[in-house]
Amino acid sequence: MITQFSYGTPVETFAVAEDIPVSDHERLRRFTREKGSPQIFSCPLGEGDAVYGLGETMRGINKRGARYISFNYDDPRHRDDMPSMYGAHNFVVVDGESPFGAFFDTPAKVVFDIDAKRDGTLTVACESQDLRLYLIEGESAYDVVKQFLGVIGRSFLPPLWAFGYGQSRWGYKTKLDVSRVAARHQEAGIPLDYICMDIDYMDRYIDFTVNRRRFPNLEDYSARMKERGIHLVPIVDAGIKIEPGNPVYEEGVRNGYFCKNREGKDFKAEVWPGMTHFPDFLREEVRKWFGEQYRVYTSLGLEGFWNDMNEPAIFSTEYRAKGAKPDAERGDPDQPERHTADFKDFFHRLDDGREKSNYEVHNIFGAMMTRASGEGLERLLDNRYLLFSRSSYIGAHRYGGIWTGDNASTWEMLRQNVYHMPSLNMCGFLYSGADTGGFGGNSSRELMLRWLAVSVFTPLMRNHSAIFTKKQECFRFRNPEDFRTIITLRYRLLPYLYSEFMKAALRQDMLIRPLAFDYPRDEKVRQIEDQLMVGESVMIAPVLEQGVKGRIVYLPEPMTEVRFSSEGFTCMDVCAGERTVMVPLNQVVFYIRQGKLVPVGKSAANTAELDLMDVELLGSGKDYEQYVDDGYTKKCGLDRCIVRRKGEKL
Ligand code: GLC
Repeated sequence: MITQFSYGTPVETFAVAEDIPVSDHERLRRFTREKGSPQIFSCPLGEGDAVYGLGETMRGINKRGARYISFNYDDPRHRDDMPSMYGAHNFVVVDGESPFGAFFDTPAKVVFDIDAKRDGTLTVACESQDLRLYLIEGESAYDVVKQFLGVIGRSFLPPLWAFGYGQSRWGYKTKLDVSRVAARHQEAGIPLDYICMDIDYMDRYIDFTVNRRRFPNLEDYSARMKERGIHLVPIVDAGIKIEPGNPVYEEGVRNGYFCKNREGKDFKAEVWPGMTHFPDFLREEVRKWFGEQYRVYTSLGLEGFWNDMNEPAIFSTEYRAKGAKPDAERGDPDQPERHTADFKDFFHRLDDGREKSNYEVHNIFGAMMTRASGEGLERLLDNRYLLFSRSSYIGAHRYGGIWTGDNASTWEMLRQNVYHMPSLNMCGFLYSGADTGGFGGNSSRELMLRWLAVSVFTPLMRNHSAIFTKKQECFRFRNPEDFRTIITLRYRLLPYLYSEFMKAALRQDMLIRPLAFDYPRDEKVRQIEDQLMVGESVMIAPVLEQGVKGRIVYLPEPMTEVRFSSEGFTCMDVCAGERTVMVPLNQVVFYIRQGKLVPVGKSAANTAELDLMDVELLGSGKDYEQYVDDGYTKKCGLDRCIVRRKGEKL
């Protein structure tokens, strides 16, 4: 059951896609300790209650015991105690005697104190007086999440090739660099579906331009790469460079499409290309115009994009010099070390006529950029597109996926990747993943292999790293065949992973879940955060520590243990309970639930070569419902599912 409470004049965030009747404020008293107040929501937590949700935040899957701040910010120090990341996902689920969820729908800052004070209380403080609060009561935490996913609308559906392996690096400067990367993967027999083009492909980092000297004849080149099964995926940043002669800049200025400064002029902020203006993505007219700009790329045959720097990230502004100390007095008192005062220096004009500082509507800026591009690409392309963004807010999941930003090559970040996935799924972001191997820092061979073994199971599987780090494409490491083995597993599992993604998206369900959602009566699984459920049949228990040969796995029920090596799959039935499993670096072990099946296909150099129909069924089940389509049609529906029976030839 879902109830909406509305206060003041909320800013339209578009997070909730269904009409939910507005309830009388008195009803809120049932949930809150004090008199029902939306700005300070406070309720007691039972001793053993777990609190889930919050999407892209640090720490574990159970969010209890800390304070989190929804305020999108670009900060690569992904430490455990970092209060906020690039996205704002204001949905929490209390898993106690009467499970319930709460979604605080406001683009302004929100602070979640989840028993951080150790007083057994969940307190949520919203900075704005104008907001919508949705309360969801359910039979279980999972039921609450499913109801929530049901009202925020269906996840974005990427094409099949977006589930292939992607190679990326900031620093591929020329067409030759990109071609070499493709060739080296091919030589090493490592499958590959796309290569990302970071800011270096542009003319002086200016959006919607291509450096024709370094990437001559991109149209022809992208077509030739596509014939080889490789898509090119360019980056697009939020700021438009101030440069007379640049048509996007000129059009934006002429039509008043940019955010304004304190004096009412177009606001200037420095990002990669130098001084830029930010499009006022909160207005429909501006979104339409911005989305239309992607035609520059789609006309070159490009069908995949990543949107970046859209928190927005700012190096300096017309009011603040680069390197200046943050103005802690004007900024967010909770985050004095960050340049949050900048967001008070520029303004949006909403479609309802109101003017708001970016600070007041901060958390939907990136989401509205995603929406602008998603709606644009929907108009420009006949087929499904790939889109993922760094910044996000719930609702943006209908237009694109997200990646979890500038992590680093550390074991903590690998572990964080595992924790992020179910929390993001609870907030609608099914298509997501981390920079495999780590963005900052240098990845070791061991870390890269263990990380790949996790990314095999995340919808977005992309190796990305920063320009100043040691190169980390898989072919560069000793014994690249070990890397090939792990990435080959991804392709062999795609008939399952793609099917499970599409079914979860179409049913508005989660793909990756904490064990506690599937085994709610098993007390032991509540403490387990380093194992996850992936789709209806699979449980994973990845190795997340350096220097170990294996790990202890907890099985809530008897399962089939599947070991994948260069020799293929070997299956073994194992009992419930704890078990120690050895996992060499060039193998992956995962589990199939009792009575369930996993369709596995043949290996392929890319998804264009993959035959989703030609599968073998692993596991102890009798049948499996497989979603199959051509991988790019927009006409997706559950009627595309076919039933595969064990032992039956199609
Ligand atoms: C940002 C992005 C990163 C990208 C870099 C250069 O830091 O998060 O992925 O490589 O900018 O564009």
